[in-house]
Amino acid sequence: MHSLKSLHTFGFSTHSKKLISIDNDFAALKDVETPLWVLGEGSNCVFLEDFDGTVIKLESKGKTVKEFDDYYQLTVSAGENWHQLVCFCMQNNIFGLENLALIPGSVGAAPIQNIGAYGVELNQFVKQVMFTEIATAKQHSLTNEECQFGYRDSIFKRHLAGKVIITQVVLQIPKRWQACNHYGELANLKQPNAEQIFNKVIAIRQEKLPDPNEIGNAGSFFKNPLVSNKHFASLQCDWPDLPCYSVDHNSVKVPAAWLIDHLGFKGKQLGGIQCHPNQPLVLTNNGHGNGAELLELAREIQTKVENTFSIHLENEVRLIGNKGLVSL
Ligand code: FAD
Ligand code: EPU
Repeated sequence: MHSLKSLHTFGFSTHSKKLISIDNDFAALKDVETPLWVLGEGSNCVFLEDFDGTVIKLESKGKTVKEFDDYYQLTVSAGENWHQLVCFCMQNNIFGLENLALIPGSVGAAPIQNIGAYGVELNQFVKQVMFTEIATAKQHSLTNEECQFGYRDSIFKRHLAGKVIITQVVLQIPKRWQACNHYGELANLKQPNAEQIFNKVIAIRQEKLPDPNEIGNAGSFFKNPLVSNKHFASLQCDWPDLPCYSVDHNSVKVPAAWLIDHLGFKGKQLGGIQCHPNQPLVLTNNGHGNGAELLELAREIQTKVENTFSIHLENEVRLIGNKGLVSL
């Protein structure tokens, strides 16, 4: 048995039957016992109970940078840390990723849910994603379009879920840089340079989001829901302050934090699990929580939001039971 406590940021005291670290040699895949769970840095995974199979932890390191007339092309191994990559780019005057600073986790996991923050999403920079198919150990790659990126979504969460190990991500970062500072407090920056955005994003995140090194959490527990224009108009009759972000002609995105806040969950505790007092979309583990408590509080939030606003909250965090992915 291998402890998973330090391998996922929620920090539950759970175990897996087997643990295999993989760098660039996939020969170890022959020895795995199913079920399998591929893990980066565990910042979007919660092991609710002991996992009755093999956890494969990606440790592969390395990156190459090629300069072209109009852009830089970075080929980065899955086991590299995402924020370190952003820092590397800043130090080398490769600008564009600064809004995505301080997002925890590995480069290999970044395309899985198409990480995003402060008005920018990873898919704006992905050229190609390389992966190994677990069943055959064969290498494949997908282009940006083939990855079917969406909000916190990609083909790796759908058709290819559980079937592949991402080995490398190829990013194409244009040399022509434009500030993206429309989101929230970033709008207070007047004609900022990339470094100012980088520093501001870090400052906002450090102020709002709990540090997983201090208190167990996996970032936003739920996704922000999409709501049709018609549904939103009816909600506005009862809650005129309900905010929204435009998405397309037919729907808007509603901040789940507002819905949860409005229902009074902020700071609510259930055993060792708490709805964070500053950012209610984040659930935390005080070090003594367990999977059953987490599911109970998350389901209570989900049910109350559904009953009050007729909005279904979908969990963003991957919840893992003894045989693999479980739904809320
Ligand atoms: P893991 O948690 O290890 O894995 C996540 C998923 O990817 C799992 O399904 C896993 O099986 C799969 N996976 C991991 N590596 C591979 C691989 N190489 N091949 C195939 N599958 C793989 N996310 C955002 O988008 N925006 C944010 O602003 C943000 N803020 C966060 C703040 C905090 C404090 C925390 C704790 C999390 C936050 N997250 C955010 C979520 C998290 O940072 C991202 O989902 C990140 O990409 C997860 O990386 P990881 O390596 O930890 O992935
Ligand atoms: N809000 C409240 N009460 C609160 C906090 C927020 O009502 O206590 C409302 C406010 O209206 C606020 C809005 O929620 O304007 C949005 O809050 P915030 O800017 O903190 O962002 P979020 O929607 O809660 C999303 C992402 C984060 C990402 C930030 C910044 C999702 C699920 N979450 O959070 O990503 O860092 O925007 O872009 O999309 C993650 O995915 O793990 C994550 C942390």
